[in-house]
Amino acid sequence: MQTKNLYINGKEKQINRTYTLYSPYNQDALAEIAMADENDVKEAIAGAHSAYEKMKEMPAHERSAILSRVAQLLSERKEEAARIIALEAGKPIRTARGEVDRTIVTYQFAAEEAKRIYGETIPMDAAPGGENRIGFTWREPLGVVTAISPFNFPFNLVAHKLGPAFAAGNTVVLKPAEQTPLSAYFMADLFQQAGLPDGALQVITGSGKELSEALVTDPFVKKVTFTGSAAVGKIIKKQAGLRKVTLELGSNSGLIVEPDVPLEKIIPRCVEGAFAFAGQVCISLQRIYVHSAIYDEFCERFIERAKTLKTGDPLDETTDVSTMISERETDRISSWVEEAVEQGASIGLGGSVKEGMFEPTVLLNVTEQMAVSCQETFAPVVSIVKYDELDEAIDLVNRSVYGLNVAIYTQNIMNAMHAARKFESGGVIINDIPTFRLDHMPYGGVKDSGYGREGIKYAVQEMTELKFVTIKTTF
Ligand code: SIN
Repeated sequence: MQTKNLYINGKEKQINRTYTLYSPYNQDALAEIAMADENDVKEAIAGAHSAYEKMKEMPAHERSAILSRVAQLLSERKEEAARIIALEAGKPIRTARGEVDRTIVTYQFAAEEAKRIYGETIPMDAAPGGENRIGFTWREPLGVVTAISPFNFPFNLVAHKLGPAFAAGNTVVLKPAEQTPLSAYFMADLFQQAGLPDGALQVITGSGKELSEALVTDPFVKKVTFTGSAAVGKIIKKQAGLRKVTLELGSNSGLIVEPDVPLEKIIPRCVEGAFAFAGQVCISLQRIYVHSAIYDEFCERFIERAKTLKTGDPLDETTDVSTMISERETDRISSWVEEAVEQGASIGLGGSVKEGMFEPTVLLNVTEQMAVSCQETFAPVVSIVKYDELDEAIDLVNRSVYGLNVAIYTQNIMNAMHAARKFESGGVIINDIPTFRLDHMPYGGVKDSGYGREGIKYAVQEMTELKFVTIKTTF
């Protein structure tokens, strides 16, 4: 079985402590993975700090060329990358290929963005005392960025951290999720082939509070970018002190379906939004609010469509939905569904575990106090709730601690814009599911969904510091 060592200063660092990585689908052992400790973290951060001198001085066209080469190298090894996702994350292979395609685009965007990090001129004479002065800004990289990434998009959500960080001239210490280290080591190899200086990307694997704290609080770390749960995000924000942070946290995304839309067109998309990657997506469709005039028909068609999903081995070309990331997560969602039923919810479809996989599940008669509604399920579980008035539905969507992407289907432009203004969220998707995301869109949340924005251009802003310069043109 292969052993994956830490990747520090352009070399593998062999250590004695390892853990065994198992496939979440069939528990096959996949690899032995190095378990870093605080000293390894210190070494990685110090190395990234030294490499920063080189990255900071590297011209934008060279940073851009490295990112383009990475995109190219990844496109040559697409299938290998998709298989890694399927094996370590249990993502169905067709969905995994989609993620790799997106990752290539993300790195291409980063390559382009490296060349357009602009400043602006300031009209100094707009204020008395500003005569005969020129003022302008430019953006400078920050230094060492700690990137902590989740299991659910092990390539693309890493790309959303590495891409903008390198585009801007930073260095990165990457700590991938414990369940998805193989993808991170695979990318480190591609970056090395693409000519990234040694030390500019360090990969640390392992787990534990001490490790995370060391990654966040080291004095050389200037920024922390994290995707994961709100609970961990809050701890990181506290530990980070005055460092910059970007936190992409969860949500319980809501969708409103008005009565003026063609159901046959939107149902397949809604089913996809609820069950893609077993709902383990921050913007997975979790709560659907359907107008009473079409509620019964919507539920019937939705359930019919969801019944056609095939569960199984993530490496099987025909699988739509596979396993959740761990037995613990499967048990958690089972107990939430059981609890919802005890509290009065009814099961429209699924609701139990079959061959280790939680079935695509539709819940009806759900109230907003139930955990399956007010918390992030991160599981293949969706609720469908009836409403009469649009404002009532908007209120229901907003009555959440989260606010990432929310959505509305309607042909009425005034209703769509009314909802867009009222929604408390980072993104509003009109006439598609909240799960819709392209990689150059600004992406991020309000409330417990997070802090800051990704989407390469926006992440570059967050990974640079604005410097102001003024020149007095006469003595
Ligand atoms: C996420 O789960 O936060 C990312 C969703 C996506 O990129 O599609």
